[in-house]
Amino acid sequence: MAREMRAASFSEFGGRDKVTVGTMELPELKEGEVLIRVKAAGVNPVDAVIREGYYKDMMPHLMPVIPGWDVAGVVEERGHAARRFEVGDEVYAYARRPEVKWGTFAEYIIIPESYLALRPRNLSWEETAGVPLAGLTAYQSLYDAGNLQEGQSVLIIGASGGVGTFGIQLAKARGAEVVGVASARNHAYMRELGADHTIDYKDQHIGEATKRIYPDGVDLIFDCTSGESLQQSLMALKPGGTLVSILNQGKDLDPGINFRFVFVEPHATQLYALRELAEAGKLRVHVSKTYSLDEAAEALEQIHTLHTTGKIVVVP
Ligand SMILES: NC(=O)c1ccc[n+]([C@@H]2O[C@H](COP(=O)([O-])OP(=O)(O)OC[C@H]3O[C@@H](n4cnc5c(N)ncnc54)[C@H](OP(=O)(O)O)[C@@H]3O)[C@@H](O)[C@H]2O)c1
Repeated sequence: MAREMRAASFSEFGGRDKVTVGTMELPELKEGEVLIRVKAAGVNPVDAVIREGYYKDMMPHLMPVIPGWDVAGVVEERGHAARRFEVGDEVYAYARRPEVKWGTFAEYIIIPESYLALRPRNLSWEETAGVPLAGLTAYQSLYDAGNLQEGQSVLIIGASGGVGTFGIQLAKARGAEVVGVASARNHAYMRELGADHTIDYKDQHIGEATKRIYPDGVDLIFDCTSGESLQQSLMALKPGGTLVSILNQGKDLDPGINFRFVFVEPHATQLYALRELAEAGKLRVHVSKTYSLDEAAEALEQIHTLHTTGKIVVVP
């Protein structure tokens, strides 16, 4: 018999009023898929952007769409040939699929088991759900694209948000020095995570302030905001240094800069690496607010401000 669940969804692109909460029927499990009971779902800026239809020409969207790409939950059923996990295993995933349809702001999600990793055992469900998308973005930006090495310096623009929170900690875990950029209210937070220096983008010129700390410039700039803050920072990149952005795709940039754009990919092996770091005490997750499923539209409004500290999470 088909399984029903409660889920937040929208059937038209638009603002907050398009998101409703109701009952939906889950499809049958297919080969290699598992049914996850969602314990918590992380909220990311992309969820609000998807609701507004920004990606509608880049990825197929099948209405109604359930938002949410981050999940922490329990394996409840396995489809044919899905044998990597046992029923009852506690897992987490970055659940972006080729078609935008079945998200994580729901009681259940069906997903190929290849997306899953066992979750960090020392984190709560809410903390776990905050890790996948933002954690993988920081990992792929700093370690893969940026090739960050011990003893190097990195300037992180937007360092108190979801991605930046992991950026600071992953850079410190590698033995790098970190300059974190955010507004003054988040400076103590960034220091607590391990930032060696902090800059307030509201009343300091980011490039000049960074040059006062590192007169020769930094080895890596990790840009999580783009716009004027990115442009200001460029004068502080060492000759031969690398710029990694998760927003700017190379527009208005000097072609001489060693530049990489990152669009985060699902990666179960890297989720295991993040689990190891969390269990070693090197990765903490700050959940600044938890929302119920009925408050999903409000969670999307908050994440859309681009001024969230740490992570926010929906608990169905
Ligand atoms: N390409 C990818 O794969 C990818 C992956 C993840 C995220 N993203 C994008 O990357 C951005 C960051 O994601 P997130 O989850 O970290 O967002 P977030 O949680 O909203 O964090 C935003 C951060 O930017 C800071 N900030 C806001 N305006 C700023 C400015 N003008 N100059 C410098 N810092 C500023 C905020 O600090 P204050 O609150 O102190 O202002 C905060 O630290 C979003 O636009 C998201 O869509 C892209």
